[in-house]
Amino acid sequence: MISAFIADTEKSLLLLRVKELEEHHATFRDSVVCAFNQLLDLKDISTGVHSTRLAEWALRVARKLDIPEKCLYQVEVAALLHDVGKIGVPDAILKKTSALTAEERAIINRHPEYSWSILRLFSGLEEASLYALHHHESVDGSGYPAGLKGHDIPLASRIVSVIDAYDAMVSNRCYRKGLPHEEAIRRLLASSGSQFDSGVVQTFIPIAEQEAAEVFAAAGTSTAAAL
Ligand SMILES: [Fe+2]
Repeated sequence: MISAFIADTEKSLLLLRVKELEEHHATFRDSVVCAFNQLLDLKDISTGVHSTRLAEWALRVARKLDIPEKCLYQVEVAALLHDVGKIGVPDAILKKTSALTAEERAIINRHPEYSWSILRLFSGLEEASLYALHHHESVDGSGYPAGLKGHDIPLASRIVSVIDAYDAMVSNRCYRKGLPHEEAIRRLLASSGSQFDSGVVQTFIPIAEQEAAEVFAAAGTSTAAAL
């Protein structure tokens, strides 16, 4: 009886220790994600607001497409860090405002592989690393780095592809003004079924509409407050 009690106690302590280690690992993994996000900020590749917004959109699209809750963390990390490999691209190319040469374009196009090679090193981010690897694939097979087609491209990568393209189109850059929401949606639809997954585009449009309406309302409020 006493030996059974001791065995139960040891088992409980062991389970407690395993839980502690799992929590420690999850905290460390979250810290790594935050650190990389900060690194992207410092490198001026994306802003914290941009990354957070992309992650929110990705999660909303993923839930609408019935990606299981237990898989959403990997989708979120992929949305946050898919471009982390741009750290390996020289600034002179990354921030060039004039047209890129074919050689420069080829260097930039390596960034999904760089992202994969960084993220895969961290235990617990293996799936996110694959999603990052394929975020520039096109459903017609014309994308990179692997030229994957249709559903051979991970769904999370197809999601990141659409929301990242929309965000890039509507965001202001130092060398151009962002497109109006309506034009960005028109371009997403024009490339739906060739570059972009049509199901993902259709799922994202209501989310983008809502975002645009909120931005418009906020701009109206701030203008009214300034008068
Ligand atoms: Fe990218």
